[in-house]
Formats: sequence, C-alpha cells, structure tokens
Amino acid sequence: MNSDSDLSIAGDLLEVQHLLQPARPHPTTVAEFAGLARTVAADRDRWAPLVRYDTTTRWYHRLHTGPGYELWLLSWVPGQGSGRHDHGLSSGVLTVLAGELTEHTERGTHTLRPGAQHVSAPGHVHEVVNDSLEGAVSLHIYYPGLTDMPMHTARCSPATQNPITA
Ligand SMILES: [Fe+2]
Repeated sequence: MNSDSDLSIAGDLLEVQHLLQPARPHPTTVAEFAGLARTVAADRDRWAPLVRYDTTTRWYHRLHTGPGYELWLLSWVPGQGSGRHDHGLSSGVLTVLAGELTEHTERGTHTLRPGAQHVSAPGHVHEVVNDSLEGAVSLHIYYPGLTDMPMHTARCSPATQNPITA
C-alpha cells in the first residue's frame, strides 16, 4: 500500500473495466506522442520503402496526420543539415530511424542514434546535421502541425554563449 495516498485498490483492476478510461484514438500527451513515434519506428515496412535520398535538398514526406499533429519522414545524406531554427509554437518529437544525427544547441551537442528520441518545446532553437558518413532517416512529430520554422542566423558557442556567425 502506498502510504502517500488514501486510495487503495483491492483485487484485479482489469476486472473493473467501467473504471478504466477507453483508449484514446489519438495521442495527446508527450508520452503518447513518443509512443506513437516508437510504434511507427518499429514498423519498418511502413516507412523504409518511402525513403528517398536527395543530394540537392533534404528530402521529406508527410507520413501521417491526425487532429492537430503531423508525422514527417526525413532523410539526410552526409553533410546535410537543417540550419539553425526553431519550430514556432509547435512541440516536436524527433526519433532517429536509421543512421546518426547530431543536434547542436547553445547548451551543447548531442548525437542521436536509432531509437533515440528528442522532445522539444515550442521555441527550442537547434540545428540538426548528419555529420556521419552514412545516410540517416528521422521521424518528426509536430503538435500542433508545423506552420512556422523561423531560421536563426547567429550561432551560440556553448563555451562562451556569445553569438557567432553560423
Ligand atoms: Fe527542428
């Protein structure tokens, strides 16, 4: 029994279905969006045949939409990057499906490998780059759907926090 709560449940919770919430048809929480991304990531037959690599521009494909959210599939050839940007009012869940991506922020650099998930709040400024020698594929969920992606020209050095020209 949890001593921090006055609530206790005796017996099998699954026997009281009327107390359980029905499964929601669409994600509404960060955990549910991250779970949706993991489900899609595991379904390689769904996304792998769609992937294209384009050396002239980053390739992207809208994989799915739901009420207020979108899933985008992106590919990155070595050296391709997003430029420094934020996602306006959208929150995001980035999941690497194949290869390796590097995220640069003013707080440092993170390497994202398959299975890694990165959640960003509205206004989070970052730059994502394929610094590897192999192609990479990523899945991006935006809620609400991405309508604005302001680019940032200045880049902050993690060591000095001073803006330098990107
Ligand atoms: Fe981004």
